[in-house]
Amino acid sequence: MSADEPPTGDGTLVVHGASEVFTGEPGADPIENGAVVVADGDVVAVGPTEAVTREYPVESARQAIDATGRTVMPGFADSHTHALFAGDRSDEFAAKLRGKAYQDILAEGGGILRTVRAVREASDDDLLDAMLERLDAMCAHGTTTVEVKSGYGLDTETELRMLDVLARADAAHPVDVVPTFMGAHAIPEDSDAETYTDRVVEEQLPAVAEQGVAEFCDVFCEEGVFSVEQSLRVLEAGVDHGLTPKVHAEEFVRLGGAQLAAEVGATSADHLLHATGEDARAIAEAGVVPVFLPGTAFGLGAEYADHTAFQEAGATVAIASDFNPNCYAPSMGFATTLACVGMRMPPAEAVRAATHGGALAMDRADRGTLSEGRRGDLLVVDAPSHVHVPYRFGQNVVETVVKGGTLVAE
Ligand code: NIG
Ligand code: FE
Repeated sequence: MSADEPPTGDGTLVVHGASEVFTGEPGADPIENGAVVVADGDVVAVGPTEAVTREYPVESARQAIDATGRTVMPGFADSHTHALFAGDRSDEFAAKLRGKAYQDILAEGGGILRTVRAVREASDDDLLDAMLERLDAMCAHGTTTVEVKSGYGLDTETELRMLDVLARADAAHPVDVVPTFMGAHAIPEDSDAETYTDRVVEEQLPAVAEQGVAEFCDVFCEEGVFSVEQSLRVLEAGVDHGLTPKVHAEEFVRLGGAQLAAEVGATSADHLLHATGEDARAIAEAGVVPVFLPGTAFGLGAEYADHTAFQEAGATVAIASDFNPNCYAPSMGFATTLACVGMRMPPAEAVRAATHGGALAMDRADRGTLSEGRRGDLLVVDAPSHVHVPYRFGQNVVETVVKGGTLVAE
């Protein structure tokens, strides 16, 4: 790759000569010897290099990237993370390897509750520094839009602080941060599920709505955490406050979170390790995006989700990193590897699920594919085809990251 000229002002970014442009559009074949042009932040042309550069000559571009031998693809849209956290839970990794269950760690006050204690003690500036550092890492691995959840506060003050840090991180970093309120992430040690659900609904949600940062409201609908009824209460109250529902569904047992997601018209239902064909059909019919988190299954040594039932039901599927202290994995490229090897997803589908699918799981239909009118968020991958993204694991194949037509990592 050679960047011929530094940006000098308005004009076009022309990426040309790519061995393959993988647009991410459903059903579209990769374009050989392809080019992409971005102007004013959006894609204005995609196609064979010869045709595209006739209309947008390389010589008159504000900036040109020679992508010979490289793949050009959309930036990753990572739709499920808990990437704002403090503390260190590496000892739990070792305990889980010795056979300790994730839920038992949580029930004993570890896991999420341990991160809650660390986040409550951390200063806003420390949280912001940690978030920006992780955004740098995610960006270097090709993520251009990321959803991040609160949920390590479990009290109004700390939940609001987390959301405020997310707003500041979004303003300070080129990666777009999509903020989700997840007060219903665990039951704090001084409460019980029913009393705490009341607190989320009556105290936290009105304050979160007044603050005006959060876009989504998510809930951990799981045995030993929030029941379907409690989850419904939280999500309905969220909708009343202008927040769009998301659901952590069927991760450890099949409790009914997927059907709940369909019922409330959630944007996404996530995890789905124990979802059935019936759940898949309900989700697909309701237009809910199923989000698979293969890194979590990998880290826990659990069975992977069955994506085929969702594909057969006609859903647009997504994969996400689930970057959090239980899944310390910022790389969406690695998520595509796990989707292929663990879930038997074909490479093109895995890459599409990590870009187009992820964008839909965040209500961001303006990005996720390389086609005219979409955001100019793209990656130059140092490999000849999209297959190499999942195929080459344990390394970062992303060479250049472009956000809205501007180089943000190389
Ligand atoms: O989606 N399952 C619940 N929440 C997270 C894990 C958060 C944590 O363990 O800190 C998840 O994997
Ligand atoms: Fe999660």
